[in-house]
Amino acid sequence: MDDYTLPFWIYLGVVTVFVGGAMKRIVASHLSAAPTLVAWLGATVLVERLWAFCLPTVLLLALLAFACCLYSARTSPPPANLPAHGKAVFITGCDSGFGKATAKHLDSLGFEVFATVLDLTGDGARDLQRTCSSRLTLLQVDITQPQQVHQALLDTKAKLGLQGLWGLVNNAGVCVNFGDAELSLMSNFRGCMEVNFFGTLSVTKSFLPLLRHNKGRIVNISSPAGDQPFPCLAAYGASKAALNLFTNTLRHELEPWGVQVSTILPSSYRTGRSSNRAYWDQQHKQLLQSLSPALLDEYGEDYMTETKDLFHSYASQASTDLSPVVQAIVQALLAPQPRARDKAGAG
Ligand SMILES: NC(=O)c1ccc[n+]([C@@H]2O[C@H](COP(=O)([O-])OP(=O)(O)OC[C@H]3O[C@@H](n4cnc5c(N)ncnc54)[C@H](OP(=O)(O)O)[C@@H]3O)[C@@H](O)[C@H]2O)c1
Repeated sequence: MDDYTLPFWIYLGVVTVFVGGAMKRIVASHLSAAPTLVAWLGATVLVERLWAFCLPTVLLLALLAFACCLYSARTSPPPANLPAHGKAVFITGCDSGFGKATAKHLDSLGFEVFATVLDLTGDGARDLQRTCSSRLTLLQVDITQPQQVHQALLDTKAKLGLQGLWGLVNNAGVCVNFGDAELSLMSNFRGCMEVNFFGTLSVTKSFLPLLRHNKGRIVNISSPAGDQPFPCLAAYGASKAALNLFTNTLRHELEPWGVQVSTILPSSYRTGRSSNRAYWDQQHKQLLQSLSPALLDEYGEDYMTETKDLFHSYASQASTDLSPVVQAIVQALLAPQPRARDKAGAG
């Protein structure tokens, strides 16, 4: 190529614009990408020189422009999230754990938050009241009590007035007890189903008209235990599996209404009482008391103690940083195209 013809200057201009643009974007978005950027620029110059010997200028120009466009498209940031301001979200189970952390974060983003707690005078409720803005409303709701769910709906409607509800985050959940399925009481299976499935179902059915009118979002907090068999968690897992099927069905049914439905599957996090040894000791005691002498004899008390120690050690090693779950919930509420399922956290 003759370096001083008009095509050369056009070529140089185009390369400068595209490479300069890509460079600006990379450096602005993540400075740690600098070594990658140097390698990429080096490769561009090398390829350009090699091609310059054997390709006509116009073709060379077209190829480089195409490569730059492709690169720019790949590195373009995802579409911006919807604004939080003016959006109302109802979230259950905010006494502790993900619920409390999410309620605080949504409030800090500018959402109008309706946070339900089991105990309005408890530490969790007081902490929310102390740290959040006056936009946050605390409501006392046991999701297994239809009357309380109905009252929460009336209170929410009254406060919202003409403003619709944008989001429902079904977070409240329990793992009543752990233990092999054969050793678990029926009340354990029923207790998990009552909160994790029927409670969530009841809240969802109650708030759906508000969400449909606003083409809002539903975010259900499930668990990997609802997808895969985890020994000693059959009762909890079965209730989350039921929740998953319900959520997936709802996602299809509500598509024509413009309501988007997401499932979040957090990995292992230290929340609530589960990191507390006294909690596991109490669970262990309850399990031993509930067993018939024959079953206790066959499984052996040592086995029960080992199981309890194993669960306690898992819980103590779990992550204390709840932000991946909080962020997954925010994405489900604000992403233009929220994911149907999000595994919040490693493994
Ligand atoms: N932590 C994890 O590793 C993990 C992993 C996967 C999925 N999850 C799920 O994440 C969700 C939140 O749990 P978390 O880990 O944050 O535990 P958490 O701190 O125990 O939070 C659960 C919340 O639900 C509340 N709750 C319990 N029963 C209720 C009821 N009948 N009605 C209304 N609220 C009720 C609890 O109140 P109290 O504090 O008064 O009991 C608590 O505020 C649950 O659905 C759980 O299954 C957790």
